[in-house]
Amino acid sequence: MAGICAPAIARAAHICKDYASHLPKERPMQQHLTIVKHPLVQHKLTLMREKDTSTAVFRQLLREISQLLAYEVTHELPMTTREIETPMQEMDAPVLAGRKLALISILRAGNGLLDGMLELIPSARVGFVGLYRDEATLKPVQYYFKVPDQLAKRLVIVVDPMLATGNSSAAAVDLLKQAGATDIRFLCLLASPEGVARMKEAHPDVPIVTASLDDRLDEKGYILPGLGDAGDRMFGTK
Ligand code: URA
Repeated sequence: MAGICAPAIARAAHICKDYASHLPKERPMQQHLTIVKHPLVQHKLTLMREKDTSTAVFRQLLREISQLLAYEVTHELPMTTREIETPMQEMDAPVLAGRKLALISILRAGNGLLDGMLELIPSARVGFVGLYRDEATLKPVQYYFKVPDQLAKRLVIVVDPMLATGNSSAAAVDLLKQAGATDIRFLCLLASPEGVARMKEAHPDVPIVTASLDDRLDEKGYILPGLGDAGDRMFGTK
C-alpha cells in the first residue's frame, strides 16, 4: 500500500484483533430482580399508567418500552466474532453466538411485549403459553402450549406485562423447564412484591427484568398502583 508505512499497518492489524479480545464475556445475569430505571422507560410507563391514555397510545408506548426492556434483558448475551470485509479491509467483527433466542409470550397480554421485541430481534423464535385460572382450585391450567425446538440450547425470555400473584408466571416457567429450557429470563412491565417473592421461591434461577416494582396487590390480585388490566388496555376490551 503506497504511502502507508509498515508500523502503521501493524498497528491497524493490532486494533482489528482488539475487536475480538474486548468482547463482553458471557456471564449469567447476577441479580434476581433488575428494575430498569432509564428515564425513557420511566416516562413512558407513567403515560401508560394514566387512566385516560387511549388504547392506540397505550399500544404504541408498550411497543416502545418493550424495546428498551429488550435491550436490558439481552445485554449480556454471549458473543463471538465473524470474519467480514468492510469496504476498507478485513476484520473479526462481533456477532451474537449460539442458537436464536426463544421469546415466549404468556397469552394474551404477553403479545403486547412480544411485538416490539420482535422488531428488535427479528430472528428470534417464538412460543406461546396459554393458562387460565381454575375457579375451584384457583390453580393455573394450561390450554395452549407451543414452543420452539431445542429449548435447552437457547436463551428463553418469557414475556408477560404484569407479574402479579406470580402463579401463572411460575406455572409457565415450570412448563418451559419440563420442555427442556435451562436458561430462562422473565421480562415484565410491572411487578408486585408478592409476584417477585413467588417467582424467587419457585424459580430462583430465573432473573426478572421489570420497569417497576409496585406497592402491592389488591384483594382481586391487581397490582397497585399498577395500570389496570394490561390485556384490556392494549386490546381495547373490557
Ligand atoms: N393482570 C393485569 O392485567 N393487571 C394487574 O394489575 C394484574 C394482573
